[in-house]
Amino acid sequence: MPRIGVIGTGGWGKNHVRVLNELQALAAVCDMNKERADAFSKNFHVPGYSSLDEMLKKEKLDAVTICTPASTHFAMASKTLAAGLNTFVEKPMTTTVKDGESLIETAKSANRALTVGFIERFNPPITALKQMISEGKMGEPILLEFHRENRRGENISDVGIVKDASIHDIDTACWLFGEVPKVIYARVGVMYVPLEHEDFAAILLGFSGQKTAFLVTNWITPNRVRTLSAVFSGGVVDVDFVTQKTSIHEGAATTVPTRPFQEPLMLELREFVAAIEEKRQPLVTGRDGLNVTRIAEAVLASSSSGTPIYLG
Ligand SMILES: NC(=O)c1ccc[n+]([C@@H]2O[C@H](COP(=O)([O-])OP(=O)(O)OC[C@H]3O[C@@H](n4cnc5c(N)ncnc54)[C@H](O)[C@@H]3O)[C@@H](O)[C@H]2O)c1
Repeated sequence: MPRIGVIGTGGWGKNHVRVLNELQALAAVCDMNKERADAFSKNFHVPGYSSLDEMLKKEKLDAVTICTPASTHFAMASKTLAAGLNTFVEKPMTTTVKDGESLIETAKSANRALTVGFIERFNPPITALKQMISEGKMGEPILLEFHRENRRGENISDVGIVKDASIHDIDTACWLFGEVPKVIYARVGVMYVPLEHEDFAAILLGFSGQKTAFLVTNWITPNRVRTLSAVFSGGVVDVDFVTQKTSIHEGAATTVPTRPFQEPLMLELREFVAAIEEKRQPLVTGRDGLNVTRIAEAVLASSSSGTPIYLG
């Protein structure tokens, strides 16, 4: 098993700690909040650090997962890759395209894996949908309509909803269609006025031919909505990301396949561990992380200019 350190043990990082511990790959934890680092160190019987530099100096690790706020990702991942560690960065990989390009170069020079936390690819109904598209069972995929809505987490302040949440659906749309969009049109805005960044977004992504994705994301809806309706030439597939229920509508018939619930984070981190062991590229690459940041920047540019943005 590779030895993996988790950096950031907050709301989400604590799940990385639990899952990597279950996979017997957890080797150390790091959080600038010393109390948190100590508590996780004690509970999981691994060394705990409040400084990344100290962890890198003292521990012999194969990899890290970075679960700190978005604005810290570039500096941290640059450091861990340069230190020769395979690096999993939570989404967004970086907050700017320039930083994303630089990180890919660093990973290449270090000859280490760089991957990003686009967890929905590991959500079983999405993995199954990708398989259905590859097999052509429902005909051509035409339209993907995503809804990702819930109240804002109090701790997210360094990026807006597009770079925090819409990016999950941007990545899923690109992955399912197997390409990046040619044109992007979006409206974003702020409902909760004290916020510095946008808290709702309506995004239209135009892919080749008729392929289109429509994404609605907001931090306003009180209940947690995470759905995808995929329209094919031969029917419609509805997915609930939370319950993992899939409904397949063909003509007048609806079928609901049964499959066991599986934790997407477990599947995602298992793939990272396997990629390290097999010395291969992970399923989600640094290039995917960069593409999504580029699209997110185009979303914001489209909204502020009121025009579609064509990607070269
Ligand atoms: N893939 C997903 O579904 C998913 C879900 C939630 C969050 N996330 C991502 O996980 C990351 C963390 O989000 P969160 O909600 O856990 O945030 P959080 O604020 O709850 O936790 C961040 C933790 O990082 C620590 N930290 C901050 N700067 C640090 C530094 N320089 N060195 C060491 N520790 C530092 C903080 O003390 C805190 O404990 C974000 O990138 C977020 O987008 C991903």
